[in-house]
Amino acid sequence: MNSYQKDVEKKWKDSIEKNLKRFPERKELFQNSSEIDIDRLYYPDKEDSYLDKLGFPGEYPYTRGIQPTMYRSKYWTMRQYAGFGSATETNKRFRYLLDQGQTGLSVAFDLPTQIGYDSDDVMSEGEVGKVGVAIDTLHDMERLLDSIPLDQVSTSMTINAPASILLCMYIAVGEKQGVSKEKLTGTIQNDILKEYIARGTYIFPPKPSMRIITNIFEYCQEHLPKFNTISISGYHIREAGSTAVQEAAFMIANGMAYVDAAIESGLDVDAFAPRLAFFFNAHNNFFEEIAKFRASRRVWARIMKEHYQAKNPKSWKLRFHTQTGGSTLTAQQPDNNIVRVTMQALAAVLGGTQSLHTNSRDEALALPTEESARIALRTQQIIAHESGVADTVDPLGGSYYIESLTDKVEAEIETYLEQIKELGGAVAAIEEGYMQREIHRTAYETQKRIESEEEIIVGLNKFKIDEEVNPELLKVNEELEREQITALQDIRSSRDNDLVESALKQIEWAAKKADENLMPHILHAVKAYASVGEICNVLRKEFGEYGSI
Ligand code: 3HC
Repeated sequence: MNSYQKDVEKKWKDSIEKNLKRFPERKELFQNSSEIDIDRLYYPDKEDSYLDKLGFPGEYPYTRGIQPTMYRSKYWTMRQYAGFGSATETNKRFRYLLDQGQTGLSVAFDLPTQIGYDSDDVMSEGEVGKVGVAIDTLHDMERLLDSIPLDQVSTSMTINAPASILLCMYIAVGEKQGVSKEKLTGTIQNDILKEYIARGTYIFPPKPSMRIITNIFEYCQEHLPKFNTISISGYHIREAGSTAVQEAAFMIANGMAYVDAAIESGLDVDAFAPRLAFFFNAHNNFFEEIAKFRASRRVWARIMKEHYQAKNPKSWKLRFHTQTGGSTLTAQQPDNNIVRVTMQALAAVLGGTQSLHTNSRDEALALPTEESARIALRTQQIIAHESGVADTVDPLGGSYYIESLTDKVEAEIETYLEQIKELGGAVAAIEEGYMQREIHRTAYETQKRIESEEEIIVGLNKFKIDEEVNPELLKVNEELEREQITALQDIRSSRDNDLVESALKQIEWAAKKADENLMPHILHAVKAYASVGEICNVLRKEFGEYGSI
């Protein structure tokens, strides 16, 4: 090593010592079954380009991981997405999963909640509690989080257009538990651009949506310093049929649009950027997925450091959650999905994920049963505790294939980013339909390959069996919709409706003032037990609704 390389290596070793004070490694000595010591990291002690392209984990450009010791100190968060039926039923599943060893919560909301309708709205008929938990008022949130200590558990909430409302309900439950806002940890998905592109649970047009999102950034940097303010998602873009490169590129382009919007709203990049988070898919092609994660960290680090001139290294780190690919699950031979999910989860871990959800084998058929959800969690636990892959940092680093593929994926991402820049950025590209067209084209080509058997999906177009697909499936209680509506009506008749009325008027007033942060007014309203639908209807009136793109 030349003197420069030796200096950088020493800086990295110093940062390790500092890091170990807060995050000591899991073991004094890591060894395999042959009692061969496993080093923290393997790297060339001579190659010049190592530091520019790869560098050390926990150091810019973070290709090898965002923490110096990664899983040797702390495993990724095992964070299973869960939610169905009533708040009480979901709370039971949450507590089951926590008892089974999961280390973070992740809330799935039903569609009425996600698009801002109360359970008794005509638009909600037939959907209450179906794809997630029904949350109408703070009363439901209190039941959802009952006996879950919010100062000890971090919670992700997959909510976008009404994100501000659910975050305020979470704050209010924390206060009822005696946990101050400053102590709350978790993530709000809050990523409306991918909803326009792929997922569809948007309500308002882009401009007011971006305002609400940056209001959340501003409010959290002041009051919820440990809460991740957005989970910029590639997951759903991939689920809609994109390639790995499109997933990463469109996600990063959306990330840049949020950074631009926050800066334009007057926020300092180093004040909000450390709490931006990301969310990837982990699909079937093992090495392509690992290269995608590693390339994306390098691309984002360079964008934040060079393009936005962010000075705080925490602003440069692409921290991400991964969910294994839902669209890869087959209804045929459902147990095969356990193998798919294992490979995809392994790719996410070898790619350096911070948090992980593993899908259940039956999710091509229904929401997971308790047994299927347990097997999915056990998959993560076996990878963590039995495979050894968490005992050294970035074990595939230096592989000729991985590094070449990481470089190629990086170059392809950059090409898409250039194209989107020429279109005027992500919002303009979405409104023009560019990303949607790219995804539809890829999805069509993929489907043709599967139907021609050029692309094999085991059990689906090859290695088929005659089977009665009738595994035990989760059934959402059909009575739930009526029970939820009755509970909501009880809240409406027991709350102080004058207080609710004035709180809703206050939101209307704030919505009209472009430079007013909506969060304090929404917090006041949820504490009065105003409902998601009532608050969204006030905002609909002011902001309008976005037509389908
Ligand atoms: N050395 C030093 N510090 C370490 C460390 C190490 N080895 N490992 C962890 N840490 C620190 C971290 O820095 C962090 O401290 P900080 O908050 O002070 O920085 C703390 O330990 C917690 O670690 P992480 O932040 O890495 O882990 P979390 O799990 O808390 O956060 C995240 C991960 C990706 C940043 C966060 O945004 C997250 O949890 N996201 C989850 C999103 C999610 O679950 N989404 C589900 C969506 S479902 C969906 O949309 C699909 C549906 O539509 C079908």
